[in-house]
Amino acid sequence: MPRLSTALLRHAYTIDPLLPLLLRPCRNLLAAQNELRWLREYVDMVARSRRMGHRKADRKSLLRQLARERASGKPLQYILGTEYFGDLEIRCRPGVLIPRQETAASITYLVRLIRNAQSLPPELRVLDLCTGTGCIPLLFHHEFCSARKDVALRVLGVDISEKATELAEDNLRQVQRRGDCLDQGEMGFMLADVLIDPFGDQTLKPPSVKAAFNFNRKPVFWDVLTSNPPYISPSAYWKTTTRSVRGFEPKLALVPPPAPGNCGIEQGDLFYPRILHIARDVEAKIVLLEVADMNQALRVAKMARELNIFDGVEIWRDQPDQIDDSSSAELQGFPVIGQGNGRSVLCWRGIGATWLGKGASRNNLNLIDDHRLFRSYWRSPFG
Ligand SMILES: C[S@@+](CC[C@H](N)C(=O)[O-])C[C@H]1O[C@@H](n2cnc3c(N)ncnc32)[C@H](O)[C@@H]1O
Repeated sequence: MPRLSTALLRHAYTIDPLLPLLLRPCRNLLAAQNELRWLREYVDMVARSRRMGHRKADRKSLLRQLARERASGKPLQYILGTEYFGDLEIRCRPGVLIPRQETAASITYLVRLIRNAQSLPPELRVLDLCTGTGCIPLLFHHEFCSARKDVALRVLGVDISEKATELAEDNLRQVQRRGDCLDQGEMGFMLADVLIDPFGDQTLKPPSVKAAFNFNRKPVFWDVLTSNPPYISPSAYWKTTTRSVRGFEPKLALVPPPAPGNCGIEQGDLFYPRILHIARDVEAKIVLLEVADMNQALRVAKMARELNIFDGVEIWRDQPDQIDDSSSAELQGFPVIGQGNGRSVLCWRGIGATWLGKGASRNNLNLIDDHRLFRSYWRSPFG
């Protein structure tokens, strides 16, 4: 990283003595000025809520303290306590990953495809694995319910981290307070370990997803499965993430645990086979999995194809909605949609093809009937 020139630091100081501190993480003057403005607004808000009144010295010292924290690399979102995710302002706290814009772009695009479908069931069930702040379920609900009032959404977010599920519950309450239409259906969060073998020891804490469904009396069949799991390999963690990410965001959210020996799976890919098996067991009709890049997208797309249950698998780039003639492509037999880096893998089967506007699939009619006839809340598909 190039050093900041003395001339730039001096110039920044003449504008505001706190700007040189913010130049360290921001690297350019405009970004540093923006951050200083946001920090000031935040201090004003805190002052109002703590009734610090007009004591200028208190405000000044709080602002200096926050600028120092920022200079140490602490993400702005942890200092301000929120980040925008689509139209939603999501609360952020150290210990839980900050939501990223690319994730919001994929989820928004997915919901916009699904909410146009004519043939949705009266209750659509959405399961989000590795939910973190709960940003994906909340945005899914917000985008869907702003356009469709005739379908109830039942949404469940799952995470291994208690800090994450508590923050997700907090975010849910916050969105409810702001008056988003969360009375349309049901939303909740649950502790479970996605990687635990569902046929293994059922007394482990956190339990497997299957055991957690049983304890919490949750449905076992879900229509849409989304997940942004930990997907960074240990070497990419050191090479591609910033110091700020490594120093302040939880490694649990970024790097999967080591893969068991001889399983033939790269450590960064560890979650995908497990999540695809859960998708099969819960009979998900649509699955959207976030990935790190195009190479991982291709590996995950192949895993999905090899599972032999999906009617279609495609890869989305960072902006899947940016579609023109030059952006529609195919890689190793998979359609690639949008602009930017490889970002997610979309799989569908049965009626899911119709919900995505992809036309009728070979099994559609049978699956609609199967789905309705055998959808039982308490019957486990795992056993
Ligand atoms: C990349 S973050 C994604 C968070 C959120 N979905 C988002 O998009 O911002 C991955 C999440 O997976 C959770 N996680 C890690 N290991 C897990 C496991 N074995 N089972 C369930 N969740 C896990 C982490 O706590 C973290 O919240």
